[in-house]
Amino acid sequence: FGDWLQTSASEMKPDTPITLGFSQLGKESAWRIANTASVQEAAAESGIRLVMKNAEQSQKKQFEAIRAFIAMKVDVIAIAPVVESGWEGILREAKAAGIPVVILDRSVNVKDTSLFVTTIGSDFEEEGEKAGKYLLDRMRNRPGPIRIAELQGTSGSAPSIQRGEGFRSVLAGRADMTITQSAPADFTEDKGRAIMRDFLKAPAEKRPDVLFAHNDDMALGAIDAIEEAGLKPGEDILVISVDGSRRALAELAAGKLNAVVECNPLIGPQLMQAAKEIMAGRTLPKRMVPPEDVFTQERAAEVVSGRKY
Ligand code: AHR
Repeated sequence: FGDWLQTSASEMKPDTPITLGFSQLGKESAWRIANTASVQEAAAESGIRLVMKNAEQSQKKQFEAIRAFIAMKVDVIAIAPVVESGWEGILREAKAAGIPVVILDRSVNVKDTSLFVTTIGSDFEEEGEKAGKYLLDRMRNRPGPIRIAELQGTSGSAPSIQRGEGFRSVLAGRADMTITQSAPADFTEDKGRAIMRDFLKAPAEKRPDVLFAHNDDMALGAIDAIEEAGLKPGEDILVISVDGSRRALAELAAGKLNAVVECNPLIGPQLMQAAKEIMAGRTLPKRMVPPEDVFTQERAAEVVSGRKY
């Protein structure tokens, strides 16, 4: 990454700490809170000076943060991008300033992939596929029609787009299973509850048999709405979500959720390692994906106690 660096590895004094500017996208979910803490803890442990700004779900605020990092002449910039598109211009500004960029968690959709060094984060399409495969297997002996409600995440965000695509691609083989209700609920518990209440206002014959929530927080809100409607989550309506927070795994153990596809937020150490490798002039893979599991009710009690978030 020689052409990225303001100061080459040989010019840097060995005791100069690396300064990392991190534009975090918000604090919408338990996953996000755990991700922020992981970055902060890993920076402290590895002696990296962290300058973090929280963009409160605004891409404009992320641009402002990145411009502030450029003005500060940080060594490396990390971005957790709120949405997938619109990044070319700001990434060119970072490149022109000679500051390498790491994309964390959510991916960006840019033609020129030389604008960032690497992406560290989950394979969201695979997460959607895992959710779909669980459902197909679970419904293998049940004839349709099977109605599915979907709570999407933030519109235009990589996890929402890609989880939706992965899920749909797997279900394509069963024409009698259809997504009959779908709306964005921004990855938050409150919106998950509110949108599910709306979904459940449909007449009984149009009520969903299954809920696929793009994250745990929305699923937890939706579980409240299902109970308010006098129905049993996990039985009357199957509930599948993504992330693997302690609260969601506890609901899985209690039978109110049926499957949770893991999305790992604890990627701070990988980010710090990447920042060090970049500053040492080493080459990194273009994509780094953490290992992830699928949790079902049988295994929930076993995993919940050791859960970090
Ligand atoms: O980008 C990861 C997603 O963002 C998580 O699944 C969700 O909980 C978070 O808000």
